[in-house]
Amino acid sequence: MAMDWRRVAKGEGGRRNRLRRRFVITTPMSTLTVDLGTRSYPIVVESGLLARAAQWAGRPSRVALLSHPRLAALYAAPLLEGLAREGIACSLITVPAGERFKNLKTVARLYDALLDAGLDRRSLLITLGGGVLGDVGGFTAATYLRGIPFIQVPTTLLAQVDASVGGKTGVDLARGKNLVGAFHQPRAVLIDPDTLQTLSARELRSGLAEVIKYGIICDREFFVCIKEEMRRLLRRDPDALSHAILRSCALKAEVVGQDETEQGLRAILNFGHTVGHALESLTGYRRYKHGEAISIGMVSAGLIGEEMGITPKETTGAIADALQEARLPTAFPADISTDAVLQAMQRDKKTVGGRLTFVLASEIGRVSVVKDVTAQAVEAALRRHRRRGGSEP
Ligand code: GLY
Repeated sequence: MAMDWRRVAKGEGGRRNRLRRRFVITTPMSTLTVDLGTRSYPIVVESGLLARAAQWAGRPSRVALLSHPRLAALYAAPLLEGLAREGIACSLITVPAGERFKNLKTVARLYDALLDAGLDRRSLLITLGGGVLGDVGGFTAATYLRGIPFIQVPTTLLAQVDASVGGKTGVDLARGKNLVGAFHQPRAVLIDPDTLQTLSARELRSGLAEVIKYGIICDREFFVCIKEEMRRLLRRDPDALSHAILRSCALKAEVVGQDETEQGLRAILNFGHTVGHALESLTGYRRYKHGEAISIGMVSAGLIGEEMGITPKETTGAIADALQEARLPTAFPADISTDAVLQAMQRDKKTVGGRLTFVLASEIGRVSVVKDVTAQAVEAALRRHRRRGGSEP
């Protein structure tokens, strides 16, 4: 029997969910709230939203719209026209796309561009792009003139369901990813699912890895729904995509509302990321899209959980099946040694005091953060992962 997406989007299902049940989806159904007291903000998911962005801009002295040249050509016009209709002056600033531009050099260039555009403390930055652009733009907003407000308009599925929500902003250093950053919550997250129609199939699948992750970490019913709706999601059915985005954002908003600065609970969002980040870093951020590396990392996490006596075999199997149905890679790369992975994990900022920390699943919909996972357990799990095979990117 097909699941009712709307009921799931409202957060009525999943009795086993460990999160407190206080989803704050208001009417209309397409608006959620990230509940952070005076810094609370809406996440709006609606087709045709770009033209209405000015509604959430407040009364800024000026606006800078930050994007990539290709995305600006596709989507900036309705945003700029909407702002102009409200009499809000706006400058368009573009930066090249790609992780290799997510650095302090780009931020320094952006400070100059914002000064040139005359942005003051009452001004607003709008980021129109994927996760990299949102991170670098958000960090610029967090630090320019000691912080100005910003609005996230994410255009990739990955950014819509994860990166744009929760206020993590930052840039990479030569020695690692996201090593400099700040928590700076946006004023609003405006998601127009129509932007997914121009996304590459590979980017779409990469975002689906994070959608599947939400089911694994805290919502079994959602996990089942995603599997049932996978064909529609891969076909970019607007209704299926909107509901997957809404439910993912509702779960993320709930986690962030309880633990904004990752003192505990928020770490569950890192399921699959310990091995995933190591693979990304060891392949120079070129071989895998973020979601692809996380997909492989989630299978590794299942196997590590098995070694630690926490994850049942069937759970790892269900995780791998869902990822393969989304046509994501699950095979461990043969050319990357376990030693290299262990070393990369030691450099990860999630590793504290040399202790290997993993988010491990005891069943679909329930995970916990396990400190002191032994190197032996990781080695044994990665050995089994290599033998297991799986889908290639
Ligand atoms: N992407 C993980 C987090 O926002 O905490």
